[in-house]
Amino acid sequence: MKKLENKVVFITGGASGLGRAAAVAAAEEGAKVVIADLPGSDHAAALAAVQAAGGEAVFIPLDVTDSANIRQAIAATVAQFGRLDVALNNAGIGEGYFSFLETSEESFQRIINVNLTGVFACMKYELAQFMKQGGGVIVNMSSLAGLKGAPGLSAYVASKHGVLGLTRVAAQEFARRNVRVNALCPYYIDTPLIKDAPEELRNQMIAGSPMKRLGRAEEVAKAFIYLASDDSSYTNGTQLVVDSGVIS
Ligand SMILES: NC(=O)c1ccc[n+]([C@@H]2O[C@H](COP(=O)([O-])OP(=O)(O)OC[C@H]3O[C@@H](n4cnc5c(N)ncnc54)[C@H](O)[C@@H]3O)[C@@H](O)[C@H]2O)c1
Repeated sequence: MKKLENKVVFITGGASGLGRAAAVAAAEEGAKVVIADLPGSDHAAALAAVQAAGGEAVFIPLDVTDSANIRQAIAATVAQFGRLDVALNNAGIGEGYFSFLETSEESFQRIINVNLTGVFACMKYELAQFMKQGGGVIVNMSSLAGLKGAPGLSAYVASKHGVLGLTRVAAQEFARRNVRVNALCPYYIDTPLIKDAPEELRNQMIAGSPMKRLGRAEEVAKAFIYLASDDSSYTNGTQLVVDSGVIS
């Protein structure tokens, strides 16, 4: 039996990187997948990747900074597939490395709007749908930056710490309503998010990993499948660190 047989899985930022790998992995485990991402994202390639894996997927345009749009996207998911079983709140951005003194308030706010307020708003409407249908699972994409500081990343680190806070609160509030909420905390993973990092920084990322390599999106996707499926039925309000041992 596949781990997500006939489950409806909604993935924000599903067109690229970690979201796309999670979409493919979910489809391989029997899920029907909604790739929810910006209209200009490379969603055609993500749909093709899911289909190549023998899965079923649709694209629903979504900007997580627009709560009306989030409501519509979840309604469209339910209209398409009848319900929502698993949500991966994964859409996220970074804007490079700037010291506190150089970080503009506009940049700080943009990052918080996508990475934290966007996750809150998605969770709110996902949880509302779960209450209508009797439960569901949320996995939030935090980061190792949700557990420790990183110089030059004040907004990103603050947003990812905040995602863990939202994860814990929702897990406690909904634990008796057949809902589980957990988070993923990856170290640097080789995705488009970090492709423009200067070579020196990339080398530092590799050097910082006990395994001396970046992670692969598929490795995080496997951790997602664990948290999304009944394999983690007693795991709630916590985070799964996928970091080659950095934090240990
Ligand atoms: N790659 C890493 O090293 C790493 C490590 C830890 C955590 N993360 C987190 O994983 C998540 C995915 O990152 P990735 O590496 O796959 O990056 P990515 O840039 O490849 O993918 C991010 C996706 O989010 C989408 N997105 C951005 N803003 C959006 C918005 N307002 N509404 C909807 N979608 C939006 C983009 O279109 C894109 O498809 C992010 O939350 C990121 O912070 C990444």
